[in-house]
Amino acid sequence: MILKGGEVVLRDGTRRCDVRCENGRIAALGELAPARGERVVDCAGLTVFPGLIDMHVHLREPGFERKEDILSGSRAAVKGGFTQICCMPNTKPVADNKVVVSYIKSRAEAAGLCKVHPIGAITEGQAGKNLAAIGAMKAAGAVALSEDGKSVADSGLMANAMMYASDFGLKCLCHCEDASLVDGGVVHEGYYSTLTGLKGSLRAAEDILIAREICLSESLGIPVHICHVSTYSGVQLIREAKARGVQVTAETCPHYFILTDAAIASFDTDAKVNPPLREERDRLAVLEGLRDGTIDCIATDHAPHHADDKRVEFNDAAFGISGLETAFALSYTALVKGGVLTLPALAEKMSAAPARILSLEGGAVVEGERAHLTVADLSAVWKVDPASFASKGKNTPFKGREVCGAVRYTIVDGEIKYPFGEEV
Ligand code: DOR
Ligand code: ZN
Ligand code: ZN
Repeated sequence: MILKGGEVVLRDGTRRCDVRCENGRIAALGELAPARGERVVDCAGLTVFPGLIDMHVHLREPGFERKEDILSGSRAAVKGGFTQICCMPNTKPVADNKVVVSYIKSRAEAAGLCKVHPIGAITEGQAGKNLAAIGAMKAAGAVALSEDGKSVADSGLMANAMMYASDFGLKCLCHCEDASLVDGGVVHEGYYSTLTGLKGSLRAAEDILIAREICLSESLGIPVHICHVSTYSGVQLIREAKARGVQVTAETCPHYFILTDAAIASFDTDAKVNPPLREERDRLAVLEGLRDGTIDCIATDHAPHHADDKRVEFNDAAFGISGLETAFALSYTALVKGGVLTLPALAEKMSAAPARILSLEGGAVVEGERAHLTVADLSAVWKVDPASFASKGKNTPFKGREVCGAVRYTIVDGEIKYPFGEEV
């Protein structure tokens, strides 16, 4: 197959050229004449990115298939331009053993859309008491470990986890939250928590755990990754740690660089997320962190929920935003059109960096690399309509928002996975 005439996003710039996919790999770049019988995909006017990678999603299967399952989540991923996703272990049962990890892999293979890489739990049942079967999960295909949804409260246990994980070549992806400080808080503590009367939680609840994970990483000499950074002070902790050589990487999500806690003033439960949306000062610091490299990558923290979990009183609503189908357009619009990142820098944040952090294939459009590619029309303008989501989770605070940049083709191992067969 040849992608003909697209603007290809390379590491250091963009270049108008054709891309040949053969046997699941990128076989050639340049001006290419199609061989007899070779499929040609017209990419004139389109932009060819390295296949997007989302290192932080919730697929909900097993256990919460009413919110999402591996098939619906995979469809949402490829619709959003993602060729590879990594799924968090807070399922039921928890992915804390090789059986659940291999179950997820086999369900994803049956779905046959994007690559799905399971993330194992750090502790058994995410209960924070005993380490999970780390080696067995690695052998079954886990690409990282995380307690996402919470932190491992016990610092000694976390240090042990990091040492075991590192022995097996796995990284801990840290959701940073001091539960004793959050103490039932549902939004950021500030003007809007006061205005609404909703219980707030402090930046310190996040920052204390970011600082602890940095300290453990530094003392042990083991790399660590910080999930969904939302505070200006957290960005600064990571910036300073990196400056003195700590092996820390970090992600943020589109909602943290686009929205503030003003979004909860109307009690919109779709804006209830953990960590909470914060203030303009935080949003600007997250943007600066992306720009200066403090924040390595963009993940969605795709957290689909059923309407029954969201159409309830704010305090009772579930935390989370369904993000797979809006992340690319939101990021392109806010960051590239907004003048924060170039196109190659966006590709770095949404593809190359997550590949590097988790040692995955892909992440670059170069000869010999796996043919995971995302083709987008950057001139397309569209309105976010949750009713049209492939995800079962329609929960997005971006509903009705106008965005630029639409995914036209998602290609995995040289095969077009989106548009879906039935739509072609
Ligand atoms: O908003 C969130 N939703 N934050 C988390 O940490 C967990 C996630 C979920 O699983 O719904
Ligand atoms: Zn989390
Ligand atoms: Zn998460």
